[in-house]
Amino acid sequence: MKDWDATKYLKICSPGRVNLIGEHTDYSLGYVMPMAIDLHTYLEAVKSEEVILYSESLRDGGRFKVDVLERENSWLDYVKGIYYILQRKGYRVGGMHGRIYGNLPIGSGLSSSASLELAILEFLNSSYDLNLKRIEMAIIAQEAENEFVGMPCGIMDQMAIVLGKEKHGIFIDTENLRYEYVPIPPELQILIFDTGVRRSLATSAYKDRRKTIENALKKLGKRSSKYVDEKELEKLNSMERKRLGYVLRENRRVIEARDALKEGDLEKLGKIITDAHKDLASNFEVSCQELDFFVSLAIKCGAIGARLTGAGFGGSAIALFLRNPRNCGEEILKEYRKKFIHNAKYYIVRPSEGVRRCMD
Ligand code: GLA
Repeated sequence: MKDWDATKYLKICSPGRVNLIGEHTDYSLGYVMPMAIDLHTYLEAVKSEEVILYSESLRDGGRFKVDVLERENSWLDYVKGIYYILQRKGYRVGGMHGRIYGNLPIGSGLSSSASLELAILEFLNSSYDLNLKRIEMAIIAQEAENEFVGMPCGIMDQMAIVLGKEKHGIFIDTENLRYEYVPIPPELQILIFDTGVRRSLATSAYKDRRKTIENALKKLGKRSSKYVDEKELEKLNSMERKRLGYVLRENRRVIEARDALKEGDLEKLGKIITDAHKDLASNFEVSCQELDFFVSLAIKCGAIGARLTGAGFGGSAIALFLRNPRNCGEEILKEYRKKFIHNAKYYIVRPSEGVRRCMD
């Protein structure tokens, strides 16, 4: 690399996220409780005129001029999306020259795209002195995803990645973006299971769920699902009632889960989490047989609770344990491989700091 100077590059560590509870509630401005995890996207780069990046994980490079931002349906769109929103907001930023690598699995429902977007934004924020605050960064990354990439996601992933804190989950009200750190006790062990299922229908099904919820809220004249009373569901058609009914219960579960964590009632937390999975599967209909199979195996193996995490339709699930879950991880993997051919993996994770400049 021509302008590479190892003494001047900045290294950014950007975590992934896992959602403990509050699934499909953020786009109706409800409650969520995710955490950043200790699986990261790393970006090492220097300032440069153009953007020249190489992704070691994808073994793919790309370059573009910062004033020519065309969508190309590749990972570079996440980078371009950040430039697009920054420019729209009037920020003047130059390019970067660097490489991207990491141990956060790509496309498995642990927010690898938001992690990359925020790595780029953190680099630009530090290098070009943008003075962006944490929540502004989350909003910019969500807008990049919504307006440039074309994925109408909520703001949970971006908030988790900017706000992450060791030993803590984050309770977030996605209507006003107020948040509260909730300690996660060290005895609570978190296993993530990547089912290896990558569904191309995930985006269209996500859009469909979002549309149904938006229509239902519009009919009821409500800005947020937090303000809907159970009784009002009668005014909706049966599909809207089913979907929004789930969201109302899930909002309640997020509050109950937060309180159970605060009270140290981990068995109760586990039960709420498994209930959430059943509701997601039967009423929001975003599970699949691989996710359901994992949840039942995890519970059989002694997990106190388990559920799909993220958008669903494949991707990842979590299970909570009160002991080291490694043996269960291995056992589940063995059973899973007898039944499915997907390339599944598991990870034991801890809550991590949010996106940051890092030294290591
Ligand atoms: C994806 C989206 C989030 C959220 C979840 C479902 O991860 O990016 O905004 O809607 O799905 O809870």
